[in-house]
Amino acid sequence: MSLPLYVLNGPNLNLLGVREPEVYGRATLADIEQGVAARAKGHGLEVVFRQSNQEGTLVDWIQEARTKACGLIINPGAYSHTSVAIYDALKALDKPIIEVHLSNPQQREAFRHHDYVSQVAKGVIMGLGASGYLYAVDAMAELVKT
Ligand code: DQA
Repeated sequence: MSLPLYVLNGPNLNLLGVREPEVYGRATLADIEQGVAARAKGHGLEVVFRQSNQEGTLVDWIQEARTKACGLIINPGAYSHTSVAIYDALKALDKPIIEVHLSNPQQREAFRHHDYVSQVAKGVIMGLGASGYLYAVDAMAELVKT
């Protein structure tokens, strides 16, 4: 049995569906989890899907992925723009990493333009809403095959 794909979500993403729906859409995180699991199943992949508002918890999960995951999809939320700790943890992860953002931070406030995580991700999907997670699963399926 191959290792599962980890899908990690950072702060405030537990509020999806009610938080600024004009920016982030109406899908809840549970809706996204369901879609991701179904899409991954189509590729023969299991998913571990988690969300935390705590930076250290996200670091722990990224470290856990070193031995327990085939690859990592991450929406780090605001920590994308601030967290050297998450950058360092990702740098130590020798597995494919895809970063997802529902919105396109490059079109938003200047403080969202810097992104630590993009510097260590294999690829970044942004601005495509909840579908971005599904495209990330498709891309990850290709990456873990090869
Ligand atoms: C986000 C973009 C971040 O700038 C923001 O802090 C979030 C959500 C997105 O998915 O568009 O919390 O990661």
